[in-house]
Amino acid sequence: MRVLITGITGFAGSHLADFCLAKGGLDVHGIVRWRSRMENVEHLVGKVSLHECDLRDASSTRDVVEHIRPDYIFHLAAQSFVPTSWKAPAESLTTNVIGQLNIFEAVRKIGLECRIQLACSSEEYGMVYENEVPIKETNPLRPLSPYGVSKVGQDLLGYQYFMSYKMDIVRTRGFNHEGPRRAPVFVMSDFAKQIVDIERGVKPPVLRVGNLEAKRDFTDVRDMVRAYWLSLEKGKPGEVYNICQEKCWSIRDMLDQLLAMTTAKIKIETDKDRLRPSDVMLLLGDCSKFRADTGWKPTIPFEQTLRDTLDYWRGR
Ligand code: GDD
Repeated sequence: MRVLITGITGFAGSHLADFCLAKGGLDVHGIVRWRSRMENVEHLVGKVSLHECDLRDASSTRDVVEHIRPDYIFHLAAQSFVPTSWKAPAESLTTNVIGQLNIFEAVRKIGLECRIQLACSSEEYGMVYENEVPIKETNPLRPLSPYGVSKVGQDLLGYQYFMSYKMDIVRTRGFNHEGPRRAPVFVMSDFAKQIVDIERGVKPPVLRVGNLEAKRDFTDVRDMVRAYWLSLEKGKPGEVYNICQEKCWSIRDMLDQLLAMTTAKIKIETDKDRLRPSDVMLLLGDCSKFRADTGWKPTIPFEQTLRDTLDYWRGR
């Protein structure tokens, strides 16, 4: 069985490749751009096949899909950092929506029969009121950033291609996922790296933060990629599934737990550049639909994810 992972050089993509290799019996392929950072996949060289392609280029995408002819496509490649989507909204929309469109058109025009998973996002729910949690797949989509809008675009394009062409597409709305290899712009990894830099004395003992009142439903990335796999192994064509822990923590709680794992004395300072024009304040999901269809449940406790993220930075 051939598997194609777009975004293999990224955080979730590299963990999904690890999962596929550990499973065994899979021919794993990934797409890289000429300027992709390769540090997350250095350990995969020789074990997976990497193909140079830019998903924003339709002919490049079609060539690579035709060459690999995958049975499963996991579409993880995206501009995934919310603040960048305000600084470069057109680029975020193009990469995320048009990149995906090019995959769909390649599969359709080649006439390839494959299952496609789309890494959609809980950011699509955006403005969630206190009386609307836990969030089900039927909750309204009220995105609060260009990134959120791009994910709604990907999600609905998936629905439309399923309805129009009966393409075998499964949409997963992943809530926040964290763990080792996470880029240090995302909140848990950012705070963990700052703590380690302070422990090493390479940074003054001041940890810079943004909005600590937001709440997120965190899942370990290794549980998340197992869910991605199950979405294609057991998920129903055309369906959309929330994937989450069904618990939420404020960013302040998360920070306090990280601080309890260091002996360094650290001062907290708000950095106004880290505040967003509109932040998603509350994400707490319900993934009963996904659990019922696939049997998935998360296995790695939040404390373990925090510790592994800190240890990842301590080891570098
Ligand atoms: N990045 C960051 N840095 N976020 C901070 C900081 C900080 O210093 N301080 C507070 N926060 C708050 C943000 O305002 C936000 O409310 C929350 O921490 C999480 O921020 P991120 O880790 O940047 O993630 P996100 O929730 O915006 O988006 C992530 O999760 C989505 C799924 O819900 C990304 O992984 C997206 O790609 C993903 O779709």
